Amino acid sequence: MAKDFSLMEFSNSSSNPTIHDLSSPSRRVILRGGLGATIAGLLAPLGASALSGCATTGGSASGPILGFKSISMNGLDAVTVPEGYRAQVLYRWGDAVGVAGKMPAYKADASNTAAEQELQAGMHHDGIHYFPLDGNRRGLLAVNHEYTDDGLLHVGGMQNWSAEKVAKAQAAMGVSIVEVAAGANGWEVVRPSKYARRITATTPMLIMGPARGHAMMRTKDDASGAVVLGTINNCAHGFTPWGTYLTCEENFNGYFNGPDTPNAEQARWGVRKNGAGYRWHEFDERFEVAKHPNEYNRFGWVVEIDPNDPDSTPVKRTALGRAAHEGAHVTQAKDGRVVVYMGEDARFEYIYKFVSRDAVRTGGARANADILDHGTLYVAKFNADGRGQWVELTQGKNGLMADKGFASQGDVVIKTRQASDLVGATKMDRPEWITSDVKTGWVYCTLTNNSNRGKPGFPGIDAANPRAENTMGNIIRWKDDGDFSGSTFSWNHFILAGDSELPRSDAKGNVKGDKFGSPDGLWVDGRGAMWIQTDISTSALGKGDYATTPNNGMYAADISTGEVRRFLVGPRGCELTGVITTPDMKTMFVNIQHPGEPDSERSNPAEVTKVSNWPDNARPRSATVVITKIDGGVIGT
Ligand code: FEO
Ligand code: CA
Ligand code: CA
Ligand code: CA
Repeated sequence: MAKDFSLMEFSNSSSNPTIHDLSSPSRRVILRGGLGATIAGLLAPLGASALSGCATTGGSASGPILGFKSISMNGLDAVTVPEGYRAQVLYRWGDAVGVAGKMPAYKADASNTAAEQELQAGMHHDGIHYFPLDGNRRGLLAVNHEYTDDGLLHVGGMQNWSAEKVAKAQAAMGVSIVEVAAGANGWEVVRPSKYARRITATTPMLIMGPARGHAMMRTKDDASGAVVLGTINNCAHGFTPWGTYLTCEENFNGYFNGPDTPNAEQARWGVRKNGAGYRWHEFDERFEVAKHPNEYNRFGWVVEIDPNDPDSTPVKRTALGRAAHEGAHVTQAKDGRVVVYMGEDARFEYIYKFVSRDAVRTGGARANADILDHGTLYVAKFNADGRGQWVELTQGKNGLMADKGFASQGDVVIKTRQASDLVGATKMDRPEWITSDVKTGWVYCTLTNNSNRGKPGFPGIDAANPRAENTMGNIIRWKDDGDFSGSTFSWNHFILAGDSELPRSDAKGNVKGDKFGSPDGLWVDGRGAMWIQTDISTSALGKGDYATTPNNGMYAADISTGEVRRFLVGPRGCELTGVITTPDMKTMFVNIQHPGEPDSERSNPAEVTKVSNWPDNARPRSATVVITKIDGGVIGT
C-alpha cells in the first residue's frame, strides 16, 4: 500500500521537480512544478472511463496489450500518469547537454547568452529516439527542438530585438544528442559525455541527392549548392536500421521574409512579405529572400545525423523530397530496401513514400552512408473505393517534363509540392506522424485536423478526408500490396477522432474508449500498442468543441481491437510530442512541448506563467519526461 502523500509537497529546489504520489481516491503519480494546482483539482474523482479498465498484469509483456487503468482528463499543471506508473523530468530547455568543460547552468530569468544556449537543450522538444549504448540502461537520446517562443527565450522577450537575440534563437533550435543512463535516482543525463552535442540553425551540413549543386540551391555564400548552415523547425523524426537519426524540417517558410510581391514558386511554399515572425532577417540577411533568393530552397528537407559520431556532418537527403516535413518513418521491404513514409503537415498537402534503390548493408552508418541518396519518390493517391496508388515522382514520368518545369530530378525534389499538384495526388487533412506495424503490414498516419476542408474556395470532402471543417482529425491506415515497397494499396480509417457527446454529428467520431481529438504523435511499439499524442491547438482548448478537453494528452490503442485508453495528461498549454521506449519497453521517453502556450506565442512571461509554470514552478520549459512502471514492468501493461 502506498503512503498517502496527497496533501504533502516535496519541493527541493527549482532544478528538482517535485513528484506527488496520490493514493486517494486512486493512486496516481503526478509530477508537477509546485503549488500551482489546487488540492481540489488534484483530488478530483476519476471519470467513468477510468473505472472501466481491466486489472494490470503486473509487468508481464504477455498479458493484454492495454493493462493499465485509464486516467480522466484534467486541467492540472502537471504530468499525470496511471496508477502504478511514475513520471520524472529528465531534460529541460536550458539544461546543459553535457560537453566536457562547457556546461553552463540554466538561468531562470532567461539571461543565458547565445553562446551558452548552444551548449544547452533547445526549446520546444519534439521527435525523439533512444539509441542504446548499453542495452536498456544507457543510451543516447536524439531530441528535436522545433521552434522558439522568443517571449520566454530572452530577457525582455522580443523587445530590443538584436543580433544576440537572433543568435540565441538560432542556437535554441535543431537537435540535441544527450547521453542518458538509469541509476539509483532514476534516469539522468550523463555529464560530461563524449557524445554530447547540439546541432543548431548554424551547424554546417552537406546537401546530398538530386538537389545537390542544383542552380536553385546555389547562394552567394555557397556557390557549390552543396553546403548549408543549419537545420530549422525540426519537428518529428525517424530512425534507421543502420543507427542514424532523421530530423525533419517542417514550417521553414516562417523564417524567411519574402519580397513585396512573391512569385508563384515562393507563394506555393508560403514565403511572403512579413511572413517571418521569428524576425531573424532583421539581423541575419540570409533569411531576407530579396537578398538571398535561393536560401529558402535549402530548407524543407529530411536531415540524417549519426548520433554515435559527434564529429560527423549532418546530411540533407534531398532524394526524399522537399516539404514542410513532419516526420520520416523508416521500415524495410522484404528484399532489404529501405522504405520511408513521410507526411507533410499543412492543410491540403500530401503523403509521400521513398523506396531506396539498394538494400541495407551490414556495417552500420558508414556502410549505408549514401543509401538514402538513390531511390524512387512516390506520392499517395487515395481512391474512393478503398484502394490507392503510389504515383512515381520521377522526372520524365507522369507528366513531370521539362516544359512543366521539371527538367531534372533536382527540379522534382526541390518542387515536390508542385510535382504532386501536377500528378493529381490526394490533398490531405494535415498528415502528421506515420508509423507501421511490421507484423501486419498496416501503416498508420495521423491526419490532425483541417478547419478549411469544404469551406468556400477550398477543396471539398473526399473519401480519405471525409469531414468538412474537420476539427477532430483521424488516423488513416493503408497496407501496400506485396510488401512496403508496393505501388498500390488498400486503405481505411482506423479511428475517426471525436467526442460522442458533442452535438455536431460529424464531430462525434467513432473512438472505442477514451475520446480524443487532433492526433499528432503516433508510434506502434513492439507489442502492438499504438501511442497517440494529441495537439489540440491552445486557441481551441477550452472553447467550443473542446470545452471538455482541458489539457492535451497521450493515449494507448490496442491495434488489434481499436480500444483506446488515456495514459497521460500533460501540463497546461502543452502538446505531447515525441514518444519512444528502450528496447525492453520498460522505460518510455515522452516530450512535453510548449507548456504555458497561450493563444498567441512570443508572449510576455508574466502572462505565460499564469497558464503554466511547469516543471520548475517558474518560467515554463519544454522537457523530456521519463515514464517507468513502479513494479519495473513493461509500459502499457
Ligand atoms: Fe510540428 Fe506538424 O507538428
Ligand atoms: Ca507534430
Ligand atoms: Ca503545435
Ligand atoms: Ca500538430
